[in-house]
Amino acid sequence: MCVALIVAAGSGERLGAGRPKAFVDLAGRPMLAWSIDALARLADIERIVIALPAGAQPPPGMAGGKQVLGVEGGATRSESVRLALAAAGEPDQLVLVHDAARALLTPAIARQTIDALRADPDADGAIAAMPVTDTIKRVDGHGAVRETLERSELWAVQTPQVFRRAALERALDVPTHELARATDDAWLVERAGGRVIVVRASAENLKVTSPLDLRVAELLLRDRGDPKS
Ligand code: CTP
Ligand code: MG
Repeated sequence: MCVALIVAAGSGERLGAGRPKAFVDLAGRPMLAWSIDALARLADIERIVIALPAGAQPPPGMAGGKQVLGVEGGATRSESVRLALAAAGEPDQLVLVHDAARALLTPAIARQTIDALRADPDADGAIAAMPVTDTIKRVDGHGAVRETLERSELWAVQTPQVFRRAALERALDVPTHELARATDDAWLVERAGGRVIVVRASAENLKVTSPLDLRVAELLLRDRGDPKS
């Protein structure tokens, strides 16, 4: 079985909404509610643990018949993952990690990511991602282009990211300053020698970082209609 961790403990500084991003209204509901809903619909997931900002309202307790647990998050995203995993209990084989900021997650993407890991016994992790469409250049501190990267090899990484539990626990067992350097969990697994595979997701599975992203997410969710229908 699989436990889902949703990291929602960030402050949302770049969004600048004056409150933690996970609790900002998105198409009529707190942003976090959309991810809980999508993940609660998966038969594979038996429990959801959410890393929350200090003092945040606790989650509903149950969603779609699944247990939903809240824990206080950490100073960095990876610390929040580590704290949520520590509260996850045993003995799930797989751990799915998802950012509350990716509120457009569909159950289909989460299921495909879990299935991809199950289908590859040599992989330690499977991560939602999309091939990049922009040309990417490496630029130095003076604004001068140093290198143009080969686009056909580049993927922009999203969440969900699904791992074998032992591999993720090992990867997270590093000093706090190493955890702070990680912008995704897969990097920690990779640097511990793990094998990670990408799963083609969707450009709609965007991360709400700026006010523009919030507006786009709002339009896309309204297009989808009632999530319960
Ligand atoms: N996150 C977390 N704990 C932290 C920092 C981030 O759980 N200490 C979560 C956020 O809540 C978010 C996800 O990690 O769902 C991705 O982080 P990001 O988009 O950077 O969100 P924030 O850190 O909240 O935003 P900002 O960096 O603009 O402050
Ligand atoms: Mg952040």
